[in-house]
Amino acid sequence: MNEIEMATERFGYLDSLPLGVCILRQDFVVLYWNDCLDEWTGISRDNIVGANIISKFPRLDEPKYKSRLVNIFEGGPPTTFSSKRHKYTIPSPLPNGDFRIQETTVIPMTAFDGAGSYALFAIQDVTDLARLIHDHKAIHDRALEEIRKRESAEEQLKTYSISLEEMVEERTSELKSALEYLQTTQLQLLQSEKMASVGQLAAGIAHEINTPTQYVADNVHFLKDGFDDLDALLKKYANLVKAIKEGDSAHDHARELDKAAEEADLVYLSEEIPKAIEQCLEGIGQVAKIVRSMKEFSPPGTIEKTAIDINGAIETTITVARNEWKYVAEMETDLDPSLPLVLCVPGDFNQVILNVITNAAHAIAEVVGDGSNGKGTIKISTRCNDSWAEIRVSDTGKGIPEDIRQRIFEPFFTTKEVGQGMGQGLAVSRSMIVNKHCGTIDFETEMGKGTTFNIGLPIAQE
Ligand SMILES: Nc1ncnc2c1ncn2[C@@H]1O[C@H](COP(=O)(O)OP(=O)(O)OP(=O)(O)O)[C@@H](O)[C@H]1O
Ligand SMILES: [Mg+2]
Repeated sequence: MNEIEMATERFGYLDSLPLGVCILRQDFVVLYWNDCLDEWTGISRDNIVGANIISKFPRLDEPKYKSRLVNIFEGGPPTTFSSKRHKYTIPSPLPNGDFRIQETTVIPMTAFDGAGSYALFAIQDVTDLARLIHDHKAIHDRALEEIRKRESAEEQLKTYSISLEEMVEERTSELKSALEYLQTTQLQLLQSEKMASVGQLAAGIAHEINTPTQYVADNVHFLKDGFDDLDALLKKYANLVKAIKEGDSAHDHARELDKAAEEADLVYLSEEIPKAIEQCLEGIGQVAKIVRSMKEFSPPGTIEKTAIDINGAIETTITVARNEWKYVAEMETDLDPSLPLVLCVPGDFNQVILNVITNAAHAIAEVVGDGSNGKGTIKISTRCNDSWAEIRVSDTGKGIPEDIRQRIFEPFFTTKEVGQGMGQGLAVSRSMIVNKHCGTIDFETEMGKGTTFNIGLPIAQE
């Protein structure tokens, strides 16, 4: 039995292994070639066994391979051909034209005759494994890339959050100073709102005082003329009395007296003079009332809460603001006499009622125009409800449109033309009633019918 037959007999069982197995003798002659290698390389056992392997796979003749094989034949340590490069040593093509990736281990094996060693090739197909590793590597690389991206995003986030914090801090301090500025402005606005309405009121009041003053003056002129006529008559009368006393002829004097009495129209004067005096008293009374109201309207320097007569304060404000409403509205009041005194800042309360009356007059003016074709009505009533004083101011104005109802208490919100309204009236009123007096202010409204503002003040306030 030669070596080839011995190899076939000894290693035949390796045919069924899923490994490529071949055995080389020192002279590179193939002693054994298993089925697996048949299939992989396309070179059948019959074609290669007994032949020099280099004749089939010439690259094995390259020194880098050959020297390692020689080493094995001399009983050197096992060697491994790197999978990638080894496909060039015993290449085995795949159906798609690629080459199988192989992991080849070569170990020395004692020759059958005991002299020297054969080289036993064990070739593993690692194509799938390599692909798997390749895929894994790609996944791994992608994961690494992802991690790197996340890290850089985190880094960026950190920077952002630091600059965000800085921005927030900056904004907060900006907001703080804006708030302080607003608070100061609000105080100034409160003041200017008061000044504006005081200016407007002053003009109205001047007008109100002017009318009675005018007709007092006319009547006084009339009285002066009447007095001149009467004075002339009195002189004639004195002459007549003197003539009679001195025994003169009274006849001429009496005729003169008659003539003067006729000229003076004594009947007319005796009818008209009492009327003129009456009108003067009335006019002066009206002026006195306005002056009194003005004094009561804003007691100078009163910023402390005082127990005030709400009804009286309302009447005062109605009088002072007469010029604001009298052309467009009739004023009706229904003031509850049982209303106790209420603790509040009188100037503030008057200001609120004035703002609400002015708004009511403006809303009515939008319906009745200048009032020459009929006026609207403003009705003010008060009630005592448990521990609350309730004040209702209704008007027959145009009503408040749905879309602005939420906004009318906002500072600077106005539907009036520039110069007509600053949009401060209700904002200031609410601040005074709600913040300063712990009260309430709200409204009911119906388009085309009118609006009612309800103000509630706690009777016993701190
Ligand atoms: N009684 C009312 N009827 C209809 N609309 C009203 C009435 N009261 C207030 N409004 C509406 O609310 C808005 C805000 O009122 P607010 O009194 O605050 O400001 P203004 O009257 O416009 O200006 P200012 O009072 O500063 O002169 C008004 O412009 C108006 O549109
Ligand atoms: Mg207003």
